[in-house]
Amino acid sequence: MKTAVPEIIESAKKVLWGNLKTGYSDWAGTNYKYICPANEHYSHQWFWDSCFHAITLAHFDTDLAKNEIESLLFAQKKDGFIPHIIYWDGHKYTVSLSNLGQRLESKLSLFPSNSQLIQPPLIAQAVEAIYKKDKDIGFLRRVVPKLKSYYLWLSEHRDPDQDGLIAIIAPYESGLDQSPSYDPILGVGNGPQLLSSLVGRTVTLRNLIRNYDLKKIFEADYFNVEDVLVNSIYIKNLKVLSGLLHEIDHEEAARHFHYLSEKGKEALIKKCYDPKEAFFFDVYGDADKKARVKTIKGLMPLILDLPKRMVADITKRHLFNKQEFDLPYPVPTVSASEESFSPTPTKIANEPLIWRGPTWINTNWYMVNALRHHGYNKQAQLITEKSLELVNKSGFREFFNPFSGEGYGAHNFSWSTLVVDMILS
Ligand code: GLC
Repeated sequence: MKTAVPEIIESAKKVLWGNLKTGYSDWAGTNYKYICPANEHYSHQWFWDSCFHAITLAHFDTDLAKNEIESLLFAQKKDGFIPHIIYWDGHKYTVSLSNLGQRLESKLSLFPSNSQLIQPPLIAQAVEAIYKKDKDIGFLRRVVPKLKSYYLWLSEHRDPDQDGLIAIIAPYESGLDQSPSYDPILGVGNGPQLLSSLVGRTVTLRNLIRNYDLKKIFEADYFNVEDVLVNSIYIKNLKVLSGLLHEIDHEEAARHFHYLSEKGKEALIKKCYDPKEAFFFDVYGDADKKARVKTIKGLMPLILDLPKRMVADITKRHLFNKQEFDLPYPVPTVSASEESFSPTPTKIANEPLIWRGPTWINTNWYMVNALRHHGYNKQAQLITEKSLELVNKSGFREFFNPFSGEGYGAHNFSWSTLVVDMILS
């Protein structure tokens, strides 16, 4: 690999510390400190971003890594819920057409300090990464009970059919905002991107009208999605949490979360896997329909302990297939065989529509870990090297063209520093 490890660590530090926000929050009545995704585009604190930041930081600053986690936990509600965005400096927030869905939410919500949505629940993995580095049992004792109430909240409030899989109520909850996997769910087929984006944003309005009452939202059944990415991360994290609980001698709870993880995995295979296609698809609505679009989400169950044969089929037919996901700069977020696949971002009101083809570093990080876990070390190494090449060539951009490696979206994007973890782990 061309870049020396100390060099990439230094650049990662610059990005993360450059995105560090500090100040006083009026609504919280306290000082805040967190790393935002990118100064230029995203100045608030985002849930899954902060978990990824903590995973990188664990390699060189466990205190700052813990701070990311504890800052998220500060915003946890009594019932266990943790929001996907915390608006620490909420007052300066403005409405603009360009990110209408999310911004309307902050403006009109009854709780302007945070959003009412979730994001992929990888906080247990982030805590585990920190704990592995410094073995600070005091930190575990402090945060694990809060994690426990968060994952219980997910299992109790987000699984209306009680099958072990959680449901999301808006595309933003998966973190893959305009992924074409939602096109059939939103009723826009593989239609024009503008339409897909606008219809996606009406979901926010419908949720707002119901004041984020989950019972009413699930009853209305307009966006009730058992998302493969969210559930793969949920199931993986239930198992990680079980291990963390064991570390602090909460054996009964450890067994319970292990059970929930196994139950979720069985349901994921039963409901979302199509053996003929050797691919996992999101399932939506009361009728449990499959949204048959091949995106990176369908590869995410590879992070779990799946049957060997299934892993071989999925990787051979999709991940290592040059017509689909094996492009010059893997792994694109949509299979190149899909009509909706676009290697470049399309713009609406000067803002790109995202997750419709380009390669992202956080999903690559998951793929690298999945491949290593199943013993595909050569392929994991290749994705690691290509990810590093992307960052060397184009900088820590938000996402990249899977053919040319050109960078798009925000500059100095914090979670793209995950390449550090890929090369050091
Ligand atoms: C975009 C991404 C989302 C991320 C957020 C902040 O909305 O789609 O996954 O959390 O930006 O980086």
